[in-house]
Amino acid sequence: MVEVVLDVQNLTKIYGKVKRVDNVSFQVYAGEVFGFLGPNGAGKTTTIRMISGLATMSSGEIFIGGHSVKKNFKKAVSCLGGIIENPEMYKYMSGYDNMKYYASLYDGITDEDIWEVVKLVKMENRIHEKVKKYSLGMRQRVGIAQSLLHHPRILILDEPTNGLDPAGIHEMRDFLKMLAHERGYSVFISSHILTEMQLLCDRVGIIANGKLLAVKSMDEWTEVLDGSVNLKMNVTDGAKAKELIEEEFKVDVAVNKSLINFTVRSELVQEISTLLARSGIAVLSMYTGEKSLEDTFLELTSSAGTAVK
Ligand SMILES: Nc1ncnc2c1ncn2[C@@H]1O[C@H](COP(=O)(O)OP(=O)(O)O)[C@@H](O)[C@H]1O
Ligand SMILES: [Mg+2]
Repeated sequence: MVEVVLDVQNLTKIYGKVKRVDNVSFQVYAGEVFGFLGPNGAGKTTTIRMISGLATMSSGEIFIGGHSVKKNFKKAVSCLGGIIENPEMYKYMSGYDNMKYYASLYDGITDEDIWEVVKLVKMENRIHEKVKKYSLGMRQRVGIAQSLLHHPRILILDEPTNGLDPAGIHEMRDFLKMLAHERGYSVFISSHILTEMQLLCDRVGIIANGKLLAVKSMDEWTEVLDGSVNLKMNVTDGAKAKELIEEEFKVDVAVNKSLINFTVRSELVQEISTLLARSGIAVLSMYTGEKSLEDTFLELTSSAGTAVK
C-alpha cells in the first residue's frame, strides 16, 4: 500500500484571465522522489507557491499529510519542508548558529534535533565554519537540514540544482535519494532539465503551459520519448514506398518524387528496409537523424495540451 503524502486535486491558478496552472492533479507518495518537469514558464513555481501557501488557489484542493491547505493550513504546512531557490542564510555566522537561530523561531526544537539533521545532511565536520566558506552545495544541504528540523513528511525543492556544478548536482542527487528511499521522506523536486530528472526521480509529472501532461515512472517516460529517428530515403518508387510504409507502420510519410521522409521508432528501421526490398523497391541512399530524448521532450512540451497516454 502506498501512502499519499501530497494530494493535489484539480488545482488552478488564474493570473489576469490566463490559467497559468490549469486543472492539475497528482499525488506524491511516501518514500519516493517525484519530479515536476517542465520548461520555463510552465507553472512549476506557481504550483509550488500554492502548495506552500504562498499563493492562493483560484480553484482546487491540496492535502499535505492528509490536511487541507485551505481548511487546516497550520497542520498541512507542518508536514511540509522546503527551500525555494537559494536558501537564505547569514553568511558571517556559522552553519550551526544559523540553524540555532532558525530553530529558535519554532517551539520545542532541541540541540539533539539540530545535531540529528546536521548528521543526516553530512555536515557534521563543517557545521561550525562560517557559511561564507561553504560551497553552494553545502549551503543547500544546510538549507535542507533547516527545513527538516520540524519533522516534515515532504520536502519541496524548486529547481535546487540551479547554479550547482556537476559534482554538486551528483552529491545532491545521492542525498535526495537517500532521504526518500532510506528515510521515507517524500521528495518533490522541480526542474526544467530532463536529464537531471532521469537520474534522480522515481516518478515524473511533465507540465507545460499550466497543464500536467501525465505522470509516469522515469522508465515509462524514457520509453515514450526515446528511440525515434527521422529517416530520409531515396528510393526507386517514392509513391509506392509511401503507401506501403503508411499502411504497415501507421506513420505519416512525406514524399517528393523518389525522396521519402518520416519519423519512426528506431527499432523499426530494419523492418522497413526489409518491407521495401520484398516489394521490389530499392533503397538508393538513406539518411538517419537521431532524435534525442531532449528533442522529443521539447517537441512534446511545446505542443502542450496534446494528450499523452
Ligand atoms: N504573480 C504573478 N502574476 C502574474 N503572472 C504570473 C505570476 N507568477 C507567475 N506568473 C506567470 O505564470 C506563468 C508560470 O510561471 P512559473 O510558475 O514561475 O513557471 P516555472 O516555475 O515553471 O518557470 C508564467 O507565464 C509567469 O509569467
Ligand atoms: Mg520556476
